[in-house]
Amino acid sequence: MNFKTSLERLKSGLNLNTPGDIESKPSLAMQPAFHDFAHFPEYKDFTTMQWYYDKQKYTRNQFLRHMGASDATVELEGKQFINYSSYNYLSLASDPRVKAAAKKAIDDFGTSTGSGRSITGEVDLHQLFERELCETLGSEDAVVSVGGYSTNAFTIGYLCRPQDLIIYDELVHNSALAGCKMTTARRFSFPHNDYDALEKLLAQHRDKYERVIILIEGVYSMDGDIADVPRVIEIKNRYKAFLMVDEAHSMGIIGPRGLGVTDYFGISGNQIDILFGSMSKSFGTCGGYVAGPKPLIAILKNYAPGVLLYGAAPTPANTAAGLETLRIMREQPELARRVQSNAAYFIAKAKAAGLNTYNSKDSGVVPIMTRDSELALWLSIQLFDAGICSFPMLYPIVPRDKSRLRFFINTNHTEEQMDYTIDCLAKGIAVAPKSKGVM
Ligand SMILES: Cc1ncc(COP(=O)(O)O)c(C=O)c1O
Repeated sequence: MNFKTSLERLKSGLNLNTPGDIESKPSLAMQPAFHDFAHFPEYKDFTTMQWYYDKQKYTRNQFLRHMGASDATVELEGKQFINYSSYNYLSLASDPRVKAAAKKAIDDFGTSTGSGRSITGEVDLHQLFERELCETLGSEDAVVSVGGYSTNAFTIGYLCRPQDLIIYDELVHNSALAGCKMTTARRFSFPHNDYDALEKLLAQHRDKYERVIILIEGVYSMDGDIADVPRVIEIKNRYKAFLMVDEAHSMGIIGPRGLGVTDYFGISGNQIDILFGSMSKSFGTCGGYVAGPKPLIAILKNYAPGVLLYGAAPTPANTAAGLETLRIMREQPELARRVQSNAAYFIAKAKAAGLNTYNSKDSGVVPIMTRDSELALWLSIQLFDAGICSFPMLYPIVPRDKSRLRFFINTNHTEEQMDYTIDCLAKGIAVAPKSKGVM
């Protein structure tokens, strides 16, 4: 037996390392990165960012406590702000009718249904919401679930199997990507709104896979533009693929009655296979839903973990708030129309001031592009100090060269508030320190 072999045997038996080994290759268990959260790369990122805020003497604007409602304005730690960071677009989260409906639901059922929907957790509010949603959209059936993010992710994650294909617009929300990652289905993205590229992928790959699902959004949450849903319906019909549309930022806002992509394009919900919506935006509460054909909803309700199975039912208060909001949306289309006209006003003023609103059109999401991430961060702090809340969207949320400030336009924003905001933005950009480049 030579010396090296016996030393290795000894080391493995006693779990020892030579001094040289310890320096170059500590065991995994000994490396702080694997047993101490403070050494996780994202914590280092976080502390670097805190250090950067301090170094630049930036006002801390995150995790501040607000009083009252957060809609067109908000009070943070006792100071009033014009607010563009709330997606409570229709200001219904604090509407007296919605609050009364939520309170009544608590009186009727308590604060929780006590279990999942299929096992005694069902209340009439769940069924009423689903029925009225279907009437509104023209869909056959619907299921309401506890979270928007989770409903999107778990629906995609459950429906797609290894032998299936997902083709998604490169700008779909993180919740859709999380759903994609839950499966081992093959995945391709196509350039934003490039439906020729989508069709090319389908022509090349459709027949190699069993189920094929196309993922797009009604209104894209970063760019504020609207997918050409009728065109994608025409394509998906030819290739016998399923279409899933994320209506988080379109339902309640776009279309002559504000009722989302079906209203905007004058189509019926039954032309879309999987219509997903979040209830944390214009619905002013929490939760998610899927509307679609009866068999799909039966599958999601009875088989898909995380939609209803193995999880709690949406609370009575949340569901009642969503139901009341849906009724108000249908009765008062002027709320959505005011978001649309406010956004058009904001964009026109911004363009006149030389600002870049990128692709935003007809929605309540307006980016102001800075391209440079340092400038976006700096500008958001200047606005904050001037009493305006709008947060920077930086890499990895958007590509490195597409940093921006994002503005959610509210039904109650006034022209005076928007004029002041555009003025502050234009003055801020004019005096901004020379860009230090992309962070
Ligand atoms: C496009 C989009 N989809 C899904 C979600 C998730 O919805 P929720 O906030 O209800 O969890 C969001 C949330 O920001 C979103 O913007």
